[in-house]
Amino acid sequence: MAPAECGYKHVVSAIAGAALAEAVESVDFGVLTVAFNRRVLRPRPWTITQANWAAEAARSVPAGPILELCAGAGHIGLLAGVLSGRRLVQVDSDPSACRFAQLNAEQAGVRDQVDVRCGDIGSAVMSSERFPLIIADPPYIPSADIGRFPDDPPAAIDGGEDGVDMIRACVDVASGHLSENGACLLQVRGPSQIAALESLVESRALVVRDAQVVDDERAIALLERVADN
Ligand SMILES: C[S@@+](CC[C@H](N)C(=O)[O-])C[C@H]1O[C@@H](n2cnc3c(N)ncnc32)[C@H](O)[C@@H]1O
Repeated sequence: MAPAECGYKHVVSAIAGAALAEAVESVDFGVLTVAFNRRVLRPRPWTITQANWAAEAARSVPAGPILELCAGAGHIGLLAGVLSGRRLVQVDSDPSACRFAQLNAEQAGVRDQVDVRCGDIGSAVMSSERFPLIIADPPYIPSADIGRFPDDPPAAIDGGEDGVDMIRACVDVASGHLSENGACLLQVRGPSQIAALESLVESRALVVRDAQVVDDERAIALLERVADN
């Protein structure tokens, strides 16, 4: 995929037409300009690390599309798709997030390369589908703590009682749909959730192969399939 030259104004007017015009903002994210509003999680600049890592991983994994779980406004998977030239499937259960993901793909000039599926991650992927590269950005804040983040939509950050409900769900999808020799880059809440992830993946034939820790609250883990002996 190649980044487009079409203007941001075009996307804003499309959003207005789609009744999502309430205080639409935009932010630069690598080569992209990403539109969003308060209904979806504001794009975090640090997550460009995940997109760049995915684009790098795309050079060595088998051919095929990227799957992004919990895509939100779509910028992380979209940047990885643009940088790698791969097709992209994005899943989010929130209709506003899906609309922004579609519009951001349109603005990047790659709408025909991006399949946005609005639904639960547990049902949006067909059992026969396999992906060599999976990006996952699940909500990971324990329910009792989400009040600390009043600007964020609760459904975008609430990871259940222990914070790992949606991480567990993403691992389940990765376990069922990651191609042989594929890679899954999963966002978690720092080193403590990497430790939780290590025990979660054990029973799912996956392993935490590497991690990039940004700080106590932010990290990305690389999951791979356990090699058959
Ligand atoms: C932490 S946000 C990440 C959004 C975006 N990737 C980002 O980094 O800004 C989590 C996203 O997961 C979505 N989500 C929550 N539960 C979901 C589910 N069961 N199935 C699909 N998406 C879900 C939310 O709507 C939200 O957009």
